[in-house]
Amino acid sequence: MRRKLVAGNWKMNGSLAANAALVAGIKEGLAAQACDVAVCVPAPYLAQVQALVAGSPVVLGAQDMSAHASGAYTGEVSASMLQEFGVQYVILGHSERRAYHGESDAAVAAKTVAALKAGLVPLVCVGETLEQREAGQTNAVVGGQLDVVLAALSVEEAARIVVAYEPVWAIGTGKTATPEMAQEVHAMLRARVGAKSAEVAAKVRILYGGSMKPDNAQQLLAMGDIDGGLIGGAALKAPDFLAIIDAAA
Ligand code: PGA
Repeated sequence: MRRKLVAGNWKMNGSLAANAALVAGIKEGLAAQACDVAVCVPAPYLAQVQALVAGSPVVLGAQDMSAHASGAYTGEVSASMLQEFGVQYVILGHSERRAYHGESDAAVAAKTVAALKAGLVPLVCVGETLEQREAGQTNAVVGGQLDVVLAALSVEEAARIVVAYEPVWAIGTGKTATPEMAQEVHAMLRARVGAKSAEVAAKVRILYGGSMKPDNAQQLLAMGDIDGGLIGGAALKAPDFLAIIDAAA
């Protein structure tokens, strides 16, 4: 059995006061949960949230990082910097980074390699646009995005990633893939990993993201190849985030 992971993607939201209230609410409501829980926070708040989650089951994540180790890359943050603040997970290749910052599959692969080198767990995001889905290109697009990352990794490295399937048309729109639609893509992604290693495919966690909410989480998380969620909007409200964690546990 793969242990489920529920990761909050706060995106560019929060403030010192709001973060403190949100993390306090999450910690208060967490039962002895049977899944992993992470919050991926904006870089300036890493130190704050590191302190807030210390000693709790909630672990810290970041939303992006540079593929480079150090140097003249103004505005960038390195894997080792994240690691110094206790970061365990880092979201890579989120569709907003791909769309607004021109991140290519190759860039996502390079970041994944750098994250693994630093001991971080990359949450590698893949997803198709509505146009691509309607053109019947979902498997080619999403599978292709994952294949570029897998090609850059050894089997041992591939065993340390988490994949997140996030259909672009479902992110922040209130439209969710049906559990069956998501399951179909997750099974395809697992097969892609299986082409590299059957053993890794059996173990790799594949999260669903895109308008996952308390009222649809249970059905999505009940699917055989959905191993957790990457949660945007609903991760900003402690009761909603907790309800999704409950659905995963
Ligand atoms: P959403 O975002 O849950 O608000 O749709 C998910 C994500 O972009 O990671």
